[in-house]
Formats: sequence, C-alpha cells, structure tokens
Amino acid sequence: MLVRMRHTFRWILTGLALATGLLVSPASAVIRVGEYASLTGKEAAFGQSSHKGTQLAIDEANAAGGVLGQQLELVVEDNQSKPGESVTAVKKLIARDRVVAVLGEVASGRSLEGASVCQAFKIPMVSPFSTNPKVTQMGDHIFRVCFIDPFQGSLLARFAKEKLKAGRAAVLTSSQAPYSVGLTKFFTEAYTGLGGTIVADLKYAEGDKDFKAQLTSIKASKPEVIIVTGYYTEAALICRQARQLGIEAPIMGGDGCDAPELIQIGGKDVEGFHVSTHFSAENKSPRALAFIQAFQKRHGVEPDASAALGYDSALVLIDALRRANSTQAPALREALANTRDFEAVTGSITIDAQRNARKPAVILKVSEGRLRFVETVNP
Ligand code: PHE
Repeated sequence: MLVRMRHTFRWILTGLALATGLLVSPASAVIRVGEYASLTGKEAAFGQSSHKGTQLAIDEANAAGGVLGQQLELVVEDNQSKPGESVTAVKKLIARDRVVAVLGEVASGRSLEGASVCQAFKIPMVSPFSTNPKVTQMGDHIFRVCFIDPFQGSLLARFAKEKLKAGRAAVLTSSQAPYSVGLTKFFTEAYTGLGGTIVADLKYAEGDKDFKAQLTSIKASKPEVIIVTGYYTEAALICRQARQLGIEAPIMGGDGCDAPELIQIGGKDVEGFHVSTHFSAENKSPRALAFIQAFQKRHGVEPDASAALGYDSALVLIDALRRANSTQAPALREALANTRDFEAVTGSITIDAQRNARKPAVILKVSEGRLRFVETVNP
C-alpha cells in the first residue's frame, strides 16, 4: 500500500515537473530560439526583411559572448506565406527543435495561427510586427513589440481629418486579412468620432489585380481622402488605377504599406502616399543609428520597419532571458511580461498588462521615390 502510494506520488511529481518545463530540455550547449516567417511566397519581402533583422540581433549577442554563458541558435521555419503553414512550422520548432521561445510573424493572420500553438504548448512567442489586437489576446504567452491597430486607426483618422483637412473618406479593405478588417474598423470609429463621413466602404481579395470596379464607385462618391488598410502590393496597384481613372484625392495606408515594394510597384502614382508605421531610416537616435549602420554594412540596403522590428523582437527576448536568468518558459514568460522602458531601435518598449507595446508611431510620405519622415505621433 505504502509502496503504491509512493509510486503514485512519484508520477504526480514527474507530471508536475513536465508540465512546468523542468524536465523538458536537458542542458545543451546552445539556447535555441525559433523563428517562423514568410521567407518565400507572396509576402517574402517582409519575411526576409524581418528575418535579416532578427538574425543580426542574434549574431551580435553571440559575438558579445552570448546569453547566460551560452550561444544562441536561431532555428528558422518558412511558412511560404501560405495560410495553415504557420501551425506546422511552429509545431516543428517546439516539438522537434525544443526552442525556448518563438519569434514571429509579421502578418497578423499568420501570427494568430502560430500563437494558437505557442499558447497550447506554453512557449512564449514575440511578434515583431502584427498589430491586430486579437494576436496577444490568444493567451498569456503571446507578446508583441509593436503598437496595435486601435492606436494606428485613430492616428490615421486624425491625420486625414486634421492634417489633410479631409471630411469625406473612402475605405478599401482586404476582406480576408484580419489586419485589414481590424484597421478599417478602428479607422472608421475614430474618423466618424471626429465628425468625418465614410462615403465609400469597399472590399477586395488578397491577390486581386483589377480594382477598377471599386474605384469607379469610389470616384462617384467624391472622397477627399482614400484609405487602403491592406498590404503594399494591392495598395500600389490601387494607386496606379486610381490615377488612371482621374481620381486625385490623396491616398494613405497603415504599416502594411510600409515597404520599398510600394514604390517599386506604384512608381510615380504613389508620390504623396502617406503611411503610418513603426520606424524611419531617417531616425537619428544613437540606438537606431548603430542598427542602421550594422544592417547596411551586412546587407547593403537600408533597413525598413520589418527589419527594425525583427531586430527588436530578438533584443526584447534576449533581455528577458538575461533578467529571467533561465531558459524555462515560466520564468521567461514572467520576464517578458515585466519588460519596462527597454531602449530598442523602434523606440522605448514597455509591455503592458495585455502584453502589447505602448510606443509612438511615425508618419512617412512618398516623395521623389523615397519614403520620407513626416512626423512622430505619441500614443
Ligand atoms: N501590421 C501588419 C499586420 O499586422 C504587419 C505587416 C506589415 C504585414 C506589412 C505585412 C506587411 O498584419
């Protein structure tokens, strides 16, 4: 009887230890960090860029002696920009590679997929660039280092109404992207709250090439500004076709439009396009300058917001590993949640009770084929 009780007790202890992660990974020579990104496929530009930033931060930490006396190893999985693939990618990172934490993704739709797996396995995840509020609502292990779309929607609304003096707005939404659907909602609430009128509210699908039907009804509604809440490829094509149709209203978008490709695809038709985003390569803070120089030296190009946020996601994780003084998930989760006034490249990062970062945004404008800094907007 006593023997059986002892036996049962031992099993309970083992179960508890496993559940809290005490027995999960034997001491290894490296600390493995996972990353999932769209390295190929439609949004490869973003995945590649955030990956370059993330890898740079990991390499710099290793060159400076590593973390907790160990080197970091970044294990990367490509989700090919495809729906469904992020679940598989993140499962591999956790179950096969035994990563201590997961960095990713850029697009909110894919972060929602990855977050469901990280939360189920209780492995901390840090998204660099996903701004839809639902991402961190997936659970207490999901964090981000960027601002969220209620803030972005309201700053776009204020800019349109007060700076561009536009009282009539047309909105174009990518109907399957959680990011776009959310940003439209938050923009609309803020804009109508400021006394603006939404004169057209139209949808398109990711990958669409022809926007003439939507733009024809937008033209008839006589907007003073057009907001595209989706991603850069469609936004650039929308600008080209709008100008062909003789629509002259200014066009703007959120951080999903902040990419060099907006200008490559849109050419002269994106001149004057405003974007709200997280980072400007014209930023002259010492922290940003050091990053911009290191990135340029390594890749020969200026970093964009994706690169800067990828870099920051890794910095915040490394800082949390040091403060936790442990790679175990419960301690690491706690340390991430306690991130305060961390000086990162995209600004000072404080993780709030909802595991979001309260940070300023910047507005950029396409001018002579470049995205130029216009202003900083504080939360
Ligand atoms: N904020 C966007 C999102 O949440 C991130 C993004 C920006 C994705 C640019 C792609 C391109 O989805």
